[in-house]
Amino acid sequence: MAFIRNFYILLFLLHFILVSSNTGSPYPNRRRYPYHDCLQGRSLVEDKAALLAFKKSVLVDPKSTLANWEDGVHVCNFTGVTCNEQHHRVTQIDLSSSGLVGKISPSLSNLTALQLINLYENHFFSSIPPQLSSLPCLQTLVLNQNDLNGPVPDSFALLTSLIVFAVMENNLTGPLPPSFFSNCTQLKVIDLSFNYIIGRIPMEIGNCPSLWTLNLYNNQFIGQLPASLTNTTLYNLDVENNHLSGELPSDLVSKLLNLMFLHLSYNNMRSHGNNTDLYPFFATLGNCTGLTELELAGMGLGGKLPSSIGHPSLKRLELQENLIIGSIPPEIRNLSNITMLNLTSNFLNGTIPEELSLLLMLE
Ligand SMILES: *[C@@H]1O[C@H](CO)[C@@H](O)[C@H](O)[C@H]1NC(C)=O
Ligand SMILES: *[C@@H]1O[C@H](CO)[C@@H](O)[C@H](O)[C@H]1NC(C)=O
Ligand SMILES: *[C@@H]1O[C@H](CO)[C@@H](O)[C@H](O)[C@H]1NC(C)=O
Ligand SMILES: *[C@@H]1O[C@H](CO)[C@@H](O)[C@H](O)[C@H]1NC(C)=O
Ligand SMILES: *[C@@H]1O[C@H](CO)[C@@H](O)[C@H](O)[C@H]1NC(C)=O
Ligand SMILES: *[C@@H]1O[C@H](CO)[C@@H](O)[C@H](O)[C@H]1NC(C)=O
Ligand SMILES: *[C@@H]1O[C@H](CO)[C@@H](O)[C@H](O)[C@H]1NC(C)=O
Ligand SMILES: *[C@@H]1O[C@H](CO)[C@@H](O)[C@H](O)[C@H]1NC(C)=O
Ligand SMILES: *[C@@H]1O[C@H](CO)[C@@H](O)[C@H](O)[C@H]1NC(C)=O
Ligand SMILES: *[C@@H]1O[C@H](CO)[C@@H](O)[C@H](O)[C@H]1NC(C)=O
Ligand SMILES: *[C@@H]1O[C@H](CO)[C@@H](O)[C@H](O)[C@H]1NC(C)=O
Repeated sequence: MAFIRNFYILLFLLHFILVSSNTGSPYPNRRRYPYHDCLQGRSLVEDKAALLAFKKSVLVDPKSTLANWEDGVHVCNFTGVTCNEQHHRVTQIDLSSSGLVGKISPSLSNLTALQLINLYENHFFSSIPPQLSSLPCLQTLVLNQNDLNGPVPDSFALLTSLIVFAVMENNLTGPLPPSFFSNCTQLKVIDLSFNYIIGRIPMEIGNCPSLWTLNLYNNQFIGQLPASLTNTTLYNLDVENNHLSGELPSDLVSKLLNLMFLHLSYNNMRSHGNNTDLYPFFATLGNCTGLTELELAGMGLGGKLPSSIGHPSLKRLELQENLIIGSIPPEIRNLSNITMLNLTSNFLNGTIPEELSLLLMLE
C-alpha cells in the first residue's frame, strides 16, 4: 500500500505522455481504433447537448465548477472541457477534485470523440454507466475516490483503446468480468483498490501484454495469482489485503523481470516446501534487478531468512507478522539501499548482526 503515494505520480506522468502524444500526430500508431473515425459522425453541437445533460444530473456543485456550462458559452470554453485543435469535437473532460455530487449521466456516451474522463475525487454515486462502453477512443477513465457502487460493467470489453482504468476507493462489488480482458492490448494501468470486488483474478488478464501496473489491494479476491500474468510487463503488482492463496509466486517473478514494486502482504500465501522454505522465492527475485519494494507481511510465512535476502536494489522490505525462524544472516549487509526493514513479530533468534550497522540508508 506504500504504492499509493507513487501511483498518482505515475498516473500524472502517463497523463502527460498521452496528452503530448495527442498533440503530436493526429493518428498515433499505437491506437487500435482509428481516432479519425471517432471525430466523424457527430458534431460539437451534439457534444454540447450531452454535456448539458451531464450537468443536469449533478445535484450539488460546491465550487461552482460547472457555472459556465451554459447555452451562451462556447463548449470548448466550459471549465474542465478540452476540444481537439480544430475545435470541432470534445476530447477530454477533467472535473477532478470538484466535490460534485450526483449520478454519472449516460449522456457522456454521446461524446464519441472522448479520449479522457477524469472524475477523480468527487461524490458521484450509483453505478458506472455501462453506456460508456460506446466510447471507442476512450484511453483514460479515472473515477477514483467517488461513491460508486455495483459492478465493473461487462460491456467495458468494448473499450478497445483503454490505457488507464482507475476506480480506486469506491464501493464497487461483484466479480471482475473475464470479458473485461478480451480487448485489452492497449491497457497499461488497472487500479481497483479499496473496493469490495470478489472472486478470482481472471486468467484472461494474460491478454493484456502492455499491463505495467496492477493495483487490486483492499478487495476480496480469492484463489491464486493467475499464471497468465507472465504475459504482461508488470512493473508494479499490489494485491495486499485480499484472500489470495497458494505458494509465493516464484514462477511468476521469474518472468516479470521488470518488477519494481511487489506487494503481497496480508493474504493467505505460504512459502515453498509446505511453508518451510523461503529460499526458492528469494533466489528467483535475484533476477529482478530493479526490485525496490517487497512487502510480504502478515501471511504466516514459514522458513529461515535466506542469504539472498540481501537484494541490493531494495529500499523497502516488509516481512513482519510471519512465522520466520532462525537468525538474521550476515548477507543483510547487501541491502545497501534499504530505508525500511521490518522483521517485527516473527520467531527470529540469535544476536543482532553487526552488519546492520553498514546499512547507511536505513531510516
Ligand atoms: C444522444 O444522441 C442521440 C442520438 O444518437 C440523441 O437521440 C440523444 O438525445 C442524445 N442525448 C443527449 C443527452 O444529448
Ligand atoms: C473562450 O474564451 C476566451 C476568453 O474569454 C475567448 O477569447 C474565446 O473567444 C472563447 N473561445 C470561444 C471558442 O468562444
Ligand atoms: C460505501 O461502503 C462503506 C463501507 O461499507 C459505507 O460506510 C458507505 O456508506 C458506502 N458508501 C456508499 C455511497 O454507498
Ligand atoms: C472486443 O472489441 C470488438 C471491437 O470493438 C468487439 O467486436 C468485440 O465484441 C469485443 N469483445 C467483447 C468480448 O466484447
Ligand atoms: C499470452 O499471450 C498470448 C498472445 O500474446 C495468448 O495467445 C495467450 O493465450 C496468452 N496466455 C495466457 C495464459 O493468457
Ligand atoms: C503441511 O503441513 C501441515 C501442517 O504442519 C501438515 O498437516 C500437512 O500434512 C503438510 N503437508 C504436506 C504435503 O507435507
Ligand atoms: C536468473 O536468470 C538466469 C539467466 O536468464 C537464469 O539462468 C537463472 O536460472 C535465473 N535464476 C533464477 C533463480 O530464476
Ligand atoms: C541504489 O539507489 C540509487 C539511488 O536511488 C540507485 O541509483 C542505485 O541503482 C541503487 N542501487 C542498486 C543496486 O539498485
Ligand atoms: C553479498 O554479501 C556477501 C558477503 O556478505 C558478498 O560476498 C557478496 O558478494 C554480496 N553479494 C552481492 C550481490 O553484493
Ligand atoms: C513494523 O511492523 C509492525 C507489526 O506489523 C508494525 O506495528 C510497525 O508499525 C511496523 N513498523 C514500521 C516502521 O512500519
Ligand atoms: C534458534 O532456533 C533454532 C530452532 O528454531 C535452534 O536450532 C537454534 O539453536 C537457535 N539459535 C540460537 C542462537 O538460539
